Amino acid sequence: MKGIILAGGKGSRLYPATRAVSKHLLMIYDKPLIYYPISTFLLAGITEILIISAKGQAASYQALLGDGSQWGVKFSYAEQETAAGIAEAFLIGETFIAGDSCALALGDNIFYGAGLTGMLQELAGLKSGASVMAFQVNDPQRFGIVEIGADGKPLSIEEKPAHPRANWAVTGLYFYGPDVTEIARSVKPSARGELEITSVNQAYLERGDLNVVRLPRGVTWLDAGTFDSMLEASHFVQTVEKRQGLKVACIEEVAWRRGLISVGQMRDLAAAFNNEYRDYLLSLLDQPD
Ligand code: DAU
Repeated sequence: MKGIILAGGKGSRLYPATRAVSKHLLMIYDKPLIYYPISTFLLAGITEILIISAKGQAASYQALLGDGSQWGVKFSYAEQETAAGIAEAFLIGETFIAGDSCALALGDNIFYGAGLTGMLQELAGLKSGASVMAFQVNDPQRFGIVEIGADGKPLSIEEKPAHPRANWAVTGLYFYGPDVTEIARSVKPSARGELEITSVNQAYLERGDLNVVRLPRGVTWLDAGTFDSMLEASHFVQTVEKRQGLKVACIEEVAWRRGLISVGQMRDLAAAFNNEYRDYLLSLLDQPD
């Protein structure tokens, strides 16, 4: 399965911070926001990744991430002309997807918790249809919301409903079979003029092909799209990292643990830093597990 990370958008909610820098390059505690969805993909076993940024911003992502070979992964880059909607990712990424199944991660979504890796790996095995993850929230008007029946199957899905029928938010990590581009192409822009990812999911739901996985209480999901949610996410990561001495979404660590890079490569990566991040990478090599 291939993976697309959508890291475009105007970022106008975060002006002036995002006038010159893409939101997904800003820091969440000790690393750029984009590190989090990249780690999520690596945990899922997805290593062929297209990063879509806003117009004129691909070079900044390339400067940070390169071609991915330093981490044993393969990055390609594309730009989105305007913020025409999340589902446009599949049209921009059509040649990259090339008839494969494909996951989509929103660049500002962070996942963390027990059992997550197994869950992600299972979802990444999808061959047809669609799978989304749902998370219980207090403020359902802010998200795509899925109503789930007693049998666990989805009954309805709506984008930011004024009168939500449920409090299960659809998170920004989606898994699709090879027909996703065709479905995205059939979607019409919504009232706010965007190609909505919820319309793509609605199309799968209508043909009985939408699977919803509810995230258990032990898994946390954060979307870092406002000043407050970015700060909250930073505090969350800081708390976990300080308490456990283990980093959240450290790409080098995930790549090394998954066997994508060798001990020697890990040492070389560490040597490029001269701070606590380097000490952390080296300390991992001395730990039994
Ligand atoms: O975070 C989960 C939610 O994400 C879902 O529950 C919603 O169904 C989904 O529509 C989306 O809602 P948001 O209001 O959070 O979407 P937003 O416009 O903030 O975009 C999410 C990310 O995608 C953000 O990092 C910017 C990027 N983006 C968005 C659009 C519309 C793009 O790169 N290009 C775009 O055209």
